[in-house]
Amino acid sequence: MTLALRGEKLTRTFASAAGEVHACVDIDIEVAAGELVVVRGASGAGKTTLLNLLGGLDRPTSGKVWIGDVEATALDEDALAELRRERLGFVFQSFGLIPILSAAENVELPLRIVKTPPAEREERVAEALRLVGLADHAAQRPTELSGGQQQRVGIARAIAARPHVLIADEPTGQLDSRTAATVMDLISELVHSQGLAAIVSTHDPLLVQRADRVIELHDGRVTSVAGATASVAESAAVAETDAAAEPATVSEEPPHAPLTRAEAREQRRSAD
Ligand SMILES: Nc1ncnc2c1ncn2[C@@H]1O[C@H](COP(=O)(O)OP(=O)(O)O)[C@@H](O)[C@H]1O
Ligand SMILES: [Mg+2]
Repeated sequence: MTLALRGEKLTRTFASAAGEVHACVDIDIEVAAGELVVVRGASGAGKTTLLNLLGGLDRPTSGKVWIGDVEATALDEDALAELRRERLGFVFQSFGLIPILSAAENVELPLRIVKTPPAEREERVAEALRLVGLADHAAQRPTELSGGQQQRVGIARAIAARPHVLIADEPTGQLDSRTAATVMDLISELVHSQGLAAIVSTHDPLLVQRADRVIELHDGRVTSVAGATASVAESAAVAETDAAAEPATVSEEPPHAPLTRAEAREQRRSAD
């Protein structure tokens, strides 16, 4: 098993007016090549903090991060930025596309930044758009695409430089549940066909069935780790709730597990 990403005893404490916030406490985590790990937790559980630490966007208060065989936490800012560009692809909840650029130009932008030669750029952009099923939409601008298609452009942009690791923070947070499922299916397909390592956060219990492993976060701590067997059992349960909900929207689907207050609030908000 090739480890693509590893966090050891990751702790991140923020100082705030109300005192210290323990956003991540003593978290051990590993993601192998070809593996999709889902980090699940309510709003405020520490998902973004954990992904930022693993992606070298933030530094832990204590603990270490390895990206491949390089200890990221031992690098200075410039070396860390270079490692990030070389090994990691990021996908965000808000898509982060530039409105005046076409889908292809959005995907090309990070390749321009690292000065990939034009011919190779063209090839990689075409390949990435093909992998996400948008080869025929290359010339369209984000406003001419649906939310699901926009996020697929976001994913194409993240994988265009052929990263080893994909880090996606609530990539389906702005999508309806059916589109969210297709985006998760796409990520799962890419992980398994391209040998990518992916870590994806979500607060949506319905999306965990695509994961090879699920890590549950609560108040900055890992409360459970479930392997593929658990996700298979879970997917059977989800299939039933899916069939019952017609049409499927976040608000109309029966919750898979009792919701915390924060989750219920989040669901209501996304239903508006
Ligand atoms: N820069 C920051 N300064 C202070 N507190 C923060 C900061 N970032 C996150 N937090 C706090 O850390 C906790 C975890 O936040 P976050 O990682 O964003 O959770 P999630 O992504 O699961 O919603 C929350 O209590 C949040 O308010
Ligand atoms: Mg978050």
